[in-house]
Amino acid sequence: MVRRLAILALLPLGSLALAQSQPQPAPAAPPPPLDPAQALAAFAPGEGREVTATTCGACHSPVIITSKKLDGQGWAQIVDQMIDKGAQVQDQDYNTIVTYLAKSYGP
Ligand code: HEC
Repeated sequence: MVRRLAILALLPLGSLALAQSQPQPAPAAPPPPLDPAQALAAFAPGEGREVTATTCGACHSPVIITSKKLDGQGWAQIVDQMIDKGAQVQDQDYNTIVTYLAKSYGP
């Protein structure tokens, strides 16, 4: 009898653990940023690489950038979207970044 009570007492704990092991809904957040040296290494060599890595590596992994293929207009749109999200793109770097991206990750 004592033994049975103990099992009953453990039941709620067991079902809690089960609930926690259920798959969580996929988070909408992009993959997290790399450290600065890794972020730089993830971008293709070329003029504008450093400023792009610093500016665009701040919030998320470079892979969501380097896996895309867009023309200059497409990249300009993306960079504009990122500025809306809070990316710190200096005016003098805007064209450098868009040109670098279009050249390195073009169609
Ligand atoms: C202030 C944080 C921040 C910075 C800095 C930032 N991004 Fe993003 N970026 C996000 C967030 C948040 C998302 C995911 C939400 C979304 O897709 O709308 C995202 C998603 C993306 C995507 C995927 C979007 C898609 O439509 O597939 C690309 C490409 C991208 N960023 C490129 C860039 C580039 C290029 C830069 C540098 C100019 C940059 N990001 C800098 C926050 C940032």
